[in-house]
Amino acid sequence: MYDLLNDAMFEKFRSIIYNESFITFSETNRPVLESRLRDQMREKKLDSLEDYLTLILGDRKEMRDFLDAVTTNLTRFFRNQAHFDALVHYVVPAVLEEKRKTGGALFRVWSAGCSTGEEPYTIAMILRDLLPPSFNFEVVASDLSLKSIMAAQAGFYPASRITGVPENYLRRFFIKTAGGYQVTEDLRKRIRFDYHNLSHDSGLRGMDVVFCRNVLIYFDQASQEVVVNRFWDSMSARSFLFIGHSESLFGMKTKFQFVRTQWATLYAKTV
Ligand SMILES: C[S@@+](CC[C@H](N)C(=O)[O-])C[C@H]1O[C@@H](n2cnc3c(N)ncnc32)[C@H](O)[C@@H]1O
Repeated sequence: MYDLLNDAMFEKFRSIIYNESFITFSETNRPVLESRLRDQMREKKLDSLEDYLTLILGDRKEMRDFLDAVTTNLTRFFRNQAHFDALVHYVVPAVLEEKRKTGGALFRVWSAGCSTGEEPYTIAMILRDLLPPSFNFEVVASDLSLKSIMAAQAGFYPASRITGVPENYLRRFFIKTAGGYQVTEDLRKRIRFDYHNLSHDSGLRGMDVVFCRNVLIYFDQASQEVVVNRFWDSMSARSFLFIGHSESLFGMKTKFQFVRTQWATLYAKTV
């Protein structure tokens, strides 16, 4: 049934991907993996899958390119608006109240699995709009896909990709060019783009909000638990976690509290 990816090779590639990135390929996704392997072999001008396997096992850059190739990077500006409503009306007021109590003036957000940047730019536009001048903010945006991170850093989007950005944000935070829209330098400077694999600790600490949406869905439950508990360590004493609306921490051993707001559900860390 599979011309290229026989059972033994499927097992081999699947376990490499899992060990390297936590991404889990099930039998249902086998055709996707096969098609991505074909693309890679064509790109590297290799005729056999064994040669491709040898290539990625012998060269870390090739391994990174391979992992990049098996990621799914679908995203959009203001994806799941309800999360951003909860950010504006619930999370930001709670974090500001905490900062006022503790004397902090820097609001820190991490977009983990940020893909091509639409999510961190959405967050940055909202915070730029909302935070009082006495507060500064920083968004850390990370992904395993180097291609996506580079696109995110460039901050250039064709017109078809900026649908969903409110008109007043488009005017304030983008420069219209012949081919599309360029994020302003001022907004771009607020975001620190990083190559980071969630199967490793990020070393980040003191994050007030973590967005990790539509990423955990690619991991099995054991890996999700590891990642989510690492988020806990990277977050400040009173902070909030957003995961995708089809994702859940249900059944996991974590200290996060489930919060149902009138806008969306999210998770809170309180210590
Ligand atoms: C579907 S996109 C989600 C983008 C954005 N968070 C959103 O909700 O629109 C999933 C992203 O997770 C990234 N990803 C998958 N596994 C990862 C890992 N182990 N470490 C970091 N990023 C990973 C992929 O490269 C991809 O860009």
